[in-house]
Amino acid sequence: MAKSSWFETVAEAQRRAAKTLPKSVYSALVAGSERGTTVGDNVAAFAELGFAPHAAGLSGKRDLGTTVLGQPISLPVFISPTGVQAVHPDGEVAVARAAAARGTAMSLSSFASKSIEEVAAANPQTFFQMYWTGGRDKMEARMERARAAGAVGVILTSDWTFSSGRDWGSPKIPEKMDLKAMLRLAPECITRPRWLLQFAKTAKVPDLTAPNLADGGGPAPTFFGAYGEWMQTPLPTWDDVAWLREQWGGPFMLKGVIRVDDARRAVDAGVTAISVSNHGGNNLDGTPASIRALPAIADAVGGQVEIVLDGGVRRGSDTVKALALGARATMIGRAYLWGLAAGGQDGVENVLDIMRGGIDSALLGLGHSSVHDLSRSDLVIPPGFRRDLGM
Ligand SMILES: Cc1cc2nc3c(=O)[nH]c(=O)nc-3n(C[C@H](O)[C@H](O)[C@H](O)COP(=O)(O)O)c2cc1C
Repeated sequence: MAKSSWFETVAEAQRRAAKTLPKSVYSALVAGSERGTTVGDNVAAFAELGFAPHAAGLSGKRDLGTTVLGQPISLPVFISPTGVQAVHPDGEVAVARAAAARGTAMSLSSFASKSIEEVAAANPQTFFQMYWTGGRDKMEARMERARAAGAVGVILTSDWTFSSGRDWGSPKIPEKMDLKAMLRLAPECITRPRWLLQFAKTAKVPDLTAPNLADGGGPAPTFFGAYGEWMQTPLPTWDDVAWLREQWGGPFMLKGVIRVDDARRAVDAGVTAISVSNHGGNNLDGTPASIRALPAIADAVGGQVEIVLDGGVRRGSDTVKALALGARATMIGRAYLWGLAAGGQDGVENVLDIMRGGIDSALLGLGHSSVHDLSRSDLVIPPGFRRDLGM
């Protein structure tokens, strides 16, 4: 990455994304729902936690490596699944390459704009994320396609509530990028020439289809077509979760767990990992920050499944806080989307480097030589911080 385009924090990547992207694309990344209470709390809660660093006797060498879903990763941060249509022409392929270049794993959303074949080729440590859509036969066919493409794990995200409506307004996303949609977006795009130029160079318009949800080699459905199918699909039961895990037979994560009773059910369903997550605050507004729910879940099932946390992670020290409270790793969403908007693959690598640097500094201050040595005694946890849900 050219030195001039390097950025030092995720906050700066966000500012650049806001300057680079058309308003509606940028606001689709900011997302959130209703009042924005949850999306705000995800970030604010990390700021409530403090550190208790040492003054001397620190470790000159620090090991950031761990494993997640059986994959060795060079830092305890990997890519959370998001549909990144329209942010960058290389989309999820650029993200997958950046993650591979920095030695970490990629998760590909089934609503993504790039195929699992392309993405798994770019990063052999790719997990395929599925929503429960279309029923068992379709779920199995899509999962087998991902297996054939080389996916090394499946993530089932089951916390979506189809909530819509934000007090600050939702962006209008066109059904497809045809001339009419281009003309409607034109006024926003004219002030964002760099974004427009990136797509012009590839001679392609942003792809608003979901190629991983195509049935039996048929054409990719539009994003809204796929969303419609999902809305009409009967909701999954815990038996469905166990069934899907069994069909896959390999490493399997349930994403979107925020309560202890659900974490226990996930263990009973045989999952390898859970992600303590509220979907980045895009879902049922009023759900507490995922980091507040983590300690109780880690206490209850930490010895039985891998625990990952996502939601509000913007710096390496956030990841260190999550690890100290019982997570094995964190996933990032908006942080890398902003990096992608700011600088494509290089921008995502830049974000992962920020994470690595921040984790290393915190480990240094806390006097640890490995991410596995972190514990609650490293933190200042204010009274009333925790939210113990479903006890
Ligand atoms: C624009 C956007 C799209 C998302 N799409 C998906 C998705 O397709 N599948 C999924 O499991 N989670 C999705 N998420 C949730 C993320 O995987 C993750 O849980 C969340 O972004 C974490 O919070 P953070 O953005 O504060 O890091 C999406 C999040 C955003 C912001």
